[in-house]
Amino acid sequence: MIKPIRIGLFGYGVVGAGFARLVAQIPGAEISRIVVKHPFLHQELGPELLAGHLHEVLYDKDIDVIVEAIDDADAAFTILRLALEQGKPVITANKRMVANHLPEIIRLQRRFRTPVLYEAACCAGIPVIRTLEDYFRPELVGGLTGIINGSTNYILTAMERFRFRFDHALQLAQEAGFAESDAALDVEGTDAACKLSIIVRHLWGLYVPPERILHTGIQHVLPQDLRLAEQLGGVVKLVAQTQKLDTGKVTAFILPRLVLKGTPLYQVLQEYNGIVLEDIYGDEQLLYGKGSGAAPTAQGLWADLQAWRRGYRYQYPEKELLTLSYDKELTLHFSLPNGAYVPPQLQQQLEYYAADSRYQYFTGRLSLQALASGSWWREKGISILDISAIAGDEEALKEQLNTLMLLRTDIFQPV
Ligand SMILES: NC(=O)c1ccc[n+]([C@@H]2O[C@H](COP(=O)([O-])OP(=O)(O)OC[C@H]3O[C@@H](n4cnc5c(N)ncnc54)[C@H](OP(=O)(O)O)[C@@H]3O)[C@@H](O)[C@H]2O)c1
Repeated sequence: MIKPIRIGLFGYGVVGAGFARLVAQIPGAEISRIVVKHPFLHQELGPELLAGHLHEVLYDKDIDVIVEAIDDADAAFTILRLALEQGKPVITANKRMVANHLPEIIRLQRRFRTPVLYEAACCAGIPVIRTLEDYFRPELVGGLTGIINGSTNYILTAMERFRFRFDHALQLAQEAGFAESDAALDVEGTDAACKLSIIVRHLWGLYVPPERILHTGIQHVLPQDLRLAEQLGGVVKLVAQTQKLDTGKVTAFILPRLVLKGTPLYQVLQEYNGIVLEDIYGDEQLLYGKGSGAAPTAQGLWADLQAWRRGYRYQYPEKELLTLSYDKELTLHFSLPNGAYVPPQLQQQLEYYAADSRYQYFTGRLSLQALASGSWWREKGISILDISAIAGDEEALKEQLNTLMLLRTDIFQPV
């Protein structure tokens, strides 16, 4: 009989406990020991399973593989390094740890000839990284657009469909186990930036640290943005984008975006994620599935466990020598509270079209560079929406906004 794989599990929260439940149902593997931060909270696991110290697991010769699902990126990197030094493969769901340390993680894997797999860190149960590594050739890909954070999509869906307020929708996402323990990581776009950083490395062969990916989240999205999107024939989604430019450079950014009805991401609701890969001919393919939660993430970890067992490891092919660029223009919509600061050099690029008692509304074409060189648009109360989806015809857009202003002034009344 084949010996079951013996797993050392770090973390017993939403993901760790979900993974343990999955392993208990399927033959072929067993959890040998579990390490948590507060053992007194997990006495039900019993002394056989609950380790007193991480060394008891990392230096246990009977443990074949480490599955890491903790919410502390620095501690997770220490665990990963110690595990690889011991020749133990690591399977992790920790996108912050992977994104912040990816070049070092690649070096450590090569040095210790021991793999690290992290599909679950990206979009939980959707096989994004392996699909990019093994199937799509970078020379055939034009770009990737995706909803890669389940909690913010869940929150926006609840705000749009059920008119819930932001705080209530966030609370529901947390109760369902979709949100990070530090919810700011989700709502401010940091979680998505980490995932896009990992995707960009596997898609283009370029490492861009998460902080260099221009990003914001949904923390400042206003009810009137959602109503505006509806009137324009779409919804607001937090969308990650990376494109290869004609210059051979690549962009990578994450902004709230108008997504029009009839396009693939429109149907991605609640905690689901969707990734649209566009080829060089403009044709699209959609990867779709649950992007957070205990069960989908556990499935991603299990899939990696089986992949490792079959000898799979990431190749990290050194692709073309690409660099990051902010040289892309977007059509943007701004809701600015009265008296908000806008840098003088950008004021001419913004066109006023409506106001109510608290806000003034503008549209304009700005480059990512213009956004990257200031932080005024991230200030509390200022909302930014990428409406490039309807920007093909500037005159038609203006006409549409003016008509809206005249016909439906109620969409601009803040609640
Ligand atoms: N939730 C999701 O849908 C989802 C999806 C994909 C990826 N992830 C990632 O999976 C990881 C875990 O997320 P989660 O939602 O399961 O978090 P969680 O419910 O807050 O659980 C975190 C677990 O980590 C343990 N822990 C924290 N620091 C530790 C340390 N230094 N040593 C050992 N254990 C430690 C905690 O121990 P105590 O219980 O003793 O406090 C807890 O069991 C995160 O990196 C997250 O980004 C989550």
